[in-house]
Amino acid sequence: MNKQIRALLAGTTMLMASAGWATAEDVEVLHWWTSGGEAAALNVLKENLEAEGIGWQDMPVAGGGGEQAMTVLRARVTGGNPPTAVQMLGFDIQDWAALGVVADLNELAAEESWDAVVPAALQDFSKFDGKWVAAPVNVHSTNWVWANKAIFDELGLAQPTSWDELVAALDAIEAAGYTAVAHGGQAWQDATIFDAVVVSTGGPEFYKAAMIDLDPEALGSDTMKEAFDRMAVIRSYVDDNFSGRDWNLATAMVINKEAGVQFMGDWAKGEFLNAGKVPGEDFLCFRFPGTQGTVTFNADQFVMFEVGEEGRDAQKKLASAILDPGFQIAFNKVKGSVPARTDVAGDELDACGQQGMMELAEAAAAGHLYGSMAHGHGAPAAVKNAVYDVVTAHFNGEYDSATAVEELVAAVEGAQ
Ligand code: BGC
Repeated sequence: MNKQIRALLAGTTMLMASAGWATAEDVEVLHWWTSGGEAAALNVLKENLEAEGIGWQDMPVAGGGGEQAMTVLRARVTGGNPPTAVQMLGFDIQDWAALGVVADLNELAAEESWDAVVPAALQDFSKFDGKWVAAPVNVHSTNWVWANKAIFDELGLAQPTSWDELVAALDAIEAAGYTAVAHGGQAWQDATIFDAVVVSTGGPEFYKAAMIDLDPEALGSDTMKEAFDRMAVIRSYVDDNFSGRDWNLATAMVINKEAGVQFMGDWAKGEFLNAGKVPGEDFLCFRFPGTQGTVTFNADQFVMFEVGEEGRDAQKKLASAILDPGFQIAFNKVKGSVPARTDVAGDELDACGQQGMMELAEAAAAGHLYGSMAHGHGAPAAVKNAVYDVVTAHFNGEYDSATAVEELVAAVEGAQ
């Protein structure tokens, strides 16, 4: 090939990539994994596919929790140009499947016996009308605390196991001159803390009644008012610059010994690992005090969109690569989550990962494994967003707790 033709071809390829056109052996993947730890995990998938000769067109849309990614997706599908695969959470999968724009993965799922290896709690979201439409990549959970071990050692702090112990620890951290709670003031981050605070305040059955069953009595209860009171207490421990801060920058505050703890899902562990930190040596992971025994989970799944005959082969390879047992371990080691298959051993995971896997199994056996409201597994997006609005308005001092409770009941009812 002469130089001119080669340059022309390279130009065409670049043009196609920037216009979002996938060739037959390419996949275009829309996701919100843009932090250091997230990108490192995604790279594992990208490299596996590239080794199989499948090209990867990256479509990152920054924004934890995925709200912005879902907005971009709507534009792409409306424009008749859906990506091959899209990172998605819980009820959103069902909403998109109901629109009839997603692919049918049943043939592949049967070949690879997905029914037998994917936990039922995930299958409820991966299937629509008995049809597999998404490939689950992991299981995360939201009720975690990530703590700077050096600060805990310096102050002689034990891991708190109750709300009162937590408050005492935060007081001690603040008195020593550190920011007690590293937090980013974005609605989904406020809501992530709310998941844990609701369990801690009212117990697992209360969480289920309020956040999954959307029972107006639970939503409007004194217990819910207490949960809001506790949110206000947590608010008093964040620094002045918290507003709008990205979650990974809050994690960095704990990594860099500026802050004592972050309340965040286990994707935070990916940031610690990416910074070369070791669980038990540099940082501690433990359940949000008062939520031991309960797990509020969310699972990332890649929903495959209907891309026509041309793109189907590469799409199938992508779905198969995601469910591959070796990949599930390699990916989740980096991401901070645990595998979405029940038949892979967890012994390659670090201490936090093993703890996470064990607690997930225990919570499931006890009937205390619940979908995370903050991360799309409690209720559909309309309700989730209504909860976000109230939780955030209260966190920022717009409502007192009594008003927040009233607003929550009204907002959840109005969103259904
Ligand atoms: C996703 C995680 C992601 C986190 C922050 C969550 O909703 O499930 O995979 O790391 O958002 O971006």
